[in-house]
Amino acid sequence: MNIKTAISNAVERLAHEPIGPPRMAAEALMMFVLKCDRAFLFAHSEQQLTAEQQTRFEEAVAQRASGKPLQYITGRQEFWGFEFVVSPAVLIPRPETEHLVSAALEKAAQVNRDDIRIIDVGTGSGCVALALASELPEAQIEAVDISSVALQVARENARRLDLAARVNFYESDLLASARGEYDLIVSNPPYVGRCEADKVQREVREHEPDVAVFGGEQGLDIYRRLIPEAWDKLKPGGWLLMEIGFSIEEPVRELLKHWNGVSSVPDLQGVPRVVCARIPRMHH
Ligand SMILES: C[S@@+](CC[C@H](N)C(=O)[O-])C[C@H]1O[C@@H](n2cnc3c(N)ncnc32)[C@H](O)[C@@H]1O
Repeated sequence: MNIKTAISNAVERLAHEPIGPPRMAAEALMMFVLKCDRAFLFAHSEQQLTAEQQTRFEEAVAQRASGKPLQYITGRQEFWGFEFVVSPAVLIPRPETEHLVSAALEKAAQVNRDDIRIIDVGTGSGCVALALASELPEAQIEAVDISSVALQVARENARRLDLAARVNFYESDLLASARGEYDLIVSNPPYVGRCEADKVQREVREHEPDVAVFGGEQGLDIYRRLIPEAWDKLKPGGWLLMEIGFSIEEPVRELLKHWNGVSSVPDLQGVPRVVCARIPRMHH
């Protein structure tokens, strides 16, 4: 069977499943199996697949048809222009989370010192911490997660991106093991409420780690703990930046009522995505 026929068979198979654009998925899986780029697929569409390639492609298509996210099959996701390794131990980095990185860069520039201390809480694949490390060559960056398997993935990403010396990854329940004070605390915490679990895409519910997705009954549990912990661990004038889920802006702002400069950053659809809050200068 040649590449073109194999892809059209896969498109037909995937089109019957409620899992998004079938052609993109079929092409991505073929690129994964052949370790090639899209240009190669088109330039060599008549090329015959070996029996082994055909089997591997069909297996990958079957996994996708059963609802496994594409990124967990290929083991890759792009974020901030870098290729990250992902496994079912970590949340798949979302493009919206790049807003958290941009907001952190903006606040870092305001701090106006190069050697600022930053900590990423709930780092998962390490995408936020590593994006910041790539942009802020002098910053001292730490990244924590409660999941040791997620941290293994994050460390692998650091090595692959040649940033291992730049970010200190360690296990911690929120800021419990963090030492000293920070200029910036950034987090994309689990924020889906159990009460809205049935509204979450099946793929997310069934394949992404529970600890990375759910934040208690209303989705607010981690914010309730992280906000007071951050209050004790920020330098005077330091910033806390958190990604927020749809519809929880108000309760999160309520938790930040003693903070200064509270503002939200909207995503490209105009939905508030990141909440920024500054610690008052005299707070301890
Ligand atoms: C929504 S994911 C974000 C992952 C990554 N930062 C990203 O943006 O793609 C939330 C992460 O928080 C971690 N987490 C959940 N509860 C935690 C806790 N109590 N302390 C530290 N990390 C926690 C999860 O393991 C998961 O990696």
